[in-house]
Amino acid sequence: MTEALLAGRVALVTGAAQGIGKAIAEDFVRHGAKIVVADPGTSIDGSGADPKLVDGVATALGANAAAFADSIAAPSAAAAAVELAVKRFGGLDIVVNNAAILRDAFVFKLEPRDWEAVIRVNLTGAALVTAAATPVLRENAKANRGGTPYGWGRIVNIGSTAGLYGNFGQASYASAKAGLMGLTRVTALDMARSGITANLVTPFAATRVTESIKPANDGQAQYKARAMKVAAKHVANLIAFLCSPAAQKISGQIFGVRGREVFLFQQPRPVARIVNESGDWTVDALASAVQSEFAPKFTELATDLEAFNSEPIV
Ligand SMILES: NC(=O)c1ccc[n+]([C@@H]2O[C@H](COP(=O)([O-])OP(=O)(O)OC[C@H]3O[C@@H](n4cnc5c(N)ncnc54)[C@H](O)[C@@H]3O)[C@@H](O)[C@H]2O)c1
Repeated sequence: MTEALLAGRVALVTGAAQGIGKAIAEDFVRHGAKIVVADPGTSIDGSGADPKLVDGVATALGANAAAFADSIAAPSAAAAAVELAVKRFGGLDIVVNNAAILRDAFVFKLEPRDWEAVIRVNLTGAALVTAAATPVLRENAKANRGGTPYGWGRIVNIGSTAGLYGNFGQASYASAKAGLMGLTRVTALDMARSGITANLVTPFAATRVTESIKPANDGQAQYKARAMKVAAKHVANLIAFLCSPAAQKISGQIFGVRGREVFLFQQPRPVARIVNESGDWTVDALASAVQSEFAPKFTELATDLEAFNSEPIV
């Protein structure tokens, strides 16, 4: 019998009591990993808590899963979640920062309290868990946990195409998700010497969030109907691959997954350059050069919903 893909690994998955996180947790256990399922069981906007949810998921997964019901968006809780993995299962190898909430509002109606709540869970939470977990992962690397050469350390951040394209009314959510792009790149750089990878995955899947979309027009209604066909298992499968030995050298990348389609995203790099060789730019000269050299290469102001409003392949 061949060894299970993630045999011996311990994973911490945040926001894993439902939706995409739950699919990842189930897949990890199926692949032989032990897992901490971290989720306070909030509503989509982050309010309320239902610890029974995460207890139920961990119980259903059996002895290889442990429930953690505090919000990971506080330094002490992030550290406690990591500690639970180490104490219960003897280590930590994989972190999936999946927890997220949504508080949408047009930018001209942005409420500071909502902005802060979204940034705290979606971006700060991921940073806190990463900060708590990476010292453990570095120690693993030094000790060659899992064998020589060390190859078990993985961090996967769950982003969103909203963070890459933008979407109406999603200033806080898109900003947090765009922030994860920076966090992923820096984590990949900081952990490269230890052989620990960090990647960003922008998923599409039918979850309570997709279900909650209230279409404002026919286009959005069509988007929702298509999105509801996409199972979360495909996201879990891509992440299992990224955490497997085959992905040891893949780091700092941005992937997307929608059913059986898997995307690799370009990352922002200069696409054009103008230089004034004779002195400082005047505004008039800049206007003319930007129009002729940059304008043909400007990025279209399209939302992610518009960009991905094609029939998913499921
Ligand atoms: N569903 C999609 O199509 C889609 C699209 C783009 C991005 N995403 C991203 O995928 C991830 C999962 O989304 P989903 O659709 O499964 O959402 P979901 O609402 O079904 O699940 C999110 C989970 O995160 C948990 N959570 C909230 N605050 C938390 C906290 N402070 N600590 C720990 N857990 C917390 C919630 O209780 C919930 O169980 C999110 O990062 C989301 O932004 C999803």
